[in-house]
Amino acid sequence: MTSMHLIAATTVQTSVGYVLLFLVAVAVVVYGLANFRSGKSEVGSEVVLAPNRKPYYNDQDMETKRLDRMLTMAFVTLAAISVILPLYWLNEPSRQANALRGYNAKFIDSGKAMFGNNDAVANPEGLGCALCHGANGAGGVALKYTLTDADGRFLRQVDWQAPALNTVSLRYNRAQIRYVLVYGRPFSPMPAWGVLGGGSLDDQQIENLVSYLESIQISPQAAHAEVVKGLALEKAAAIKAGHPYKSDGEALFNLGYYSDFAGGAYSCGRCHTQGWSYGDKTNDGSGAFGPNLSAVTQQFPGAVLGVNQQIDFVCQGSEQGKQYGVHGQGSGRMPAFCQKPAYNPDTDPAASQPDVPKTDQGDPGSGMMTREQVRQIVAYERGLG
Ligand code: HEC
Ligand code: HEC
Repeated sequence: MTSMHLIAATTVQTSVGYVLLFLVAVAVVVYGLANFRSGKSEVGSEVVLAPNRKPYYNDQDMETKRLDRMLTMAFVTLAAISVILPLYWLNEPSRQANALRGYNAKFIDSGKAMFGNNDAVANPEGLGCALCHGANGAGGVALKYTLTDADGRFLRQVDWQAPALNTVSLRYNRAQIRYVLVYGRPFSPMPAWGVLGGGSLDDQQIENLVSYLESIQISPQAAHAEVVKGLALEKAAAIKAGHPYKSDGEALFNLGYYSDFAGGAYSCGRCHTQGWSYGDKTNDGSGAFGPNLSAVTQQFPGAVLGVNQQIDFVCQGSEQGKQYGVHGQGSGRMPAFCQKPAYNPDTDPAASQPDVPKTDQGDPGSGMMTREQVRQIVAYERGLG
C-alpha cells in the first residue's frame, strides 16, 4: 500500500503541477546564481550602481514604449484569467462528481477488505464476514455456534445458517442494515460490530461495509429467478428428507431449510420459527426473532381486507415507529419482500451518497420476490393457527 498507490493515484493535473513547480524552482535558482555572479563583478562600484542612485527612465520612454508594454501585459493577463476561470467553472461539477465517485470507490474497497477473511499479510483489515456469509456474500453457515440455556450453561454446538447478503439492500434500507451491523443479532452468531453495540468499528467503517454490501447486490429480476431456482431445490431436498411440502407457500416460507439455499435469506422461518436456522425447527411460525404467527389473522383480520393488508405488510416490511395491522408497531427489523424499501432521509443522512440507485425504491417488483409468491406465503401463514 501507500507510496506506490499514492504515486499511481496522482492525476494528470497534479503531475503537470509538479513539473511546473520544478521548472519554477529551477528558474529561481538560476536567476539567483546569475544575480549573485553579476553582483560579485561589481564590487567597488556600488556608489555608481546602487539602485537608488541609478538614473531612471526619462518621461519620453516611460510614457510611450514602456507604458504600452505594461498595459499590453496587463491586458493579456486579464484576458487569460477571464478565459481560464469560466473554463475551470465549467469543469467543476464533473470534477466534484468524479471526486465523490472516487471517494465512494475507496469506501467500497475498504468495506470489501473488511468483509474478507483476515490475513496478516494479504488482508490485515479482514473481519471475516465472508467466513459465515460466504464469499461475495452469497450465503453460508456459522459453524459450531454454541447454544446455551437461560443461565448461560452450555447446551450443544450447532451450525447456524448465515443469510446471503447479495440481496440485503432489496429487503432493508441503509439505516436498517447499519442497525444490524452496529448491534448484531445477539441471540445468534452474528456479532455486534459498532461501538454502540459493544464492537470496535467506528461509524465510517460501518458505512464502508454498507457501501460494499450495496455494491454486490443482484438485480430484483435476478433475485426472482433465484427464488424459482431455490424453490425447486428446496422441494426436492424436502422430499429426499422425507418431509414433502404440501404447498409452494409452505416451501417458500421455509426456503433453504432442507437445501441451505442462499443461507435462508429468502425464507420467513429463519426469524419466525424457533430452531429453524440450525436444522431443528419447531412448528412453523412458532416465533423467534419475529413474533409467533399463529394468531396472525387477529393482526390482519378479514378474509379480503386482512389478506391484502398482510400481503402489503410482507411486501413492504416494517418501518421504525410505523403502525401495521391492528396493533402492530414496526421496528424496521421485518424485511421487505417484494418492494425495495425507500430511503428515509430523517434516519439516514447517507441517503445523499452518490452511486446509490434510488430509482426503483418502493416500486412494486423492486424486491426479492414477486407479489404472487408473497400471496402464497401469506395464504400458508394464515392457516398456521
Ligand atoms: C460468526 C458468523 C458471522 C460473522 C463473522 C458475521 N455474520 Fe452477519 N450474520 C450471521 C448470522 C448467523 C446472521 C443471521 C442471524 C439470524 O439468524 O437472525 C447474520 C446476519 C447478518 C445481517 C442481516 C441480514 C438479514 O437479512 O437478516 C447482515 C447485514 C450481516 N449479518 C452482515 C455481516 C457483516 C457485514 C459482517 C462482517 C463485518 C458479518 N455479518 C459477520 C453470522 C455472521
Ligand atoms: C430478519 C427477520 C425476519 C424475517 C426473515 C421475516 N420476518 Fe416477519 N417479522 C420480523 C419481526 C422482527 C417482526 C415484528 C415487527 C417489527 O419488529 O417490525 C415481524 C413481523 C411479521 C408479521 C406481523 C406479525 C404480528 O402479529 O405482528 C408478519 C405477518 C410477518 N412478519 C410475516 C413474515 C413473512 C411472511 C416472512 C417471509 C416472507 C417474514 N415475516 C420474514 C422479522 C422477520
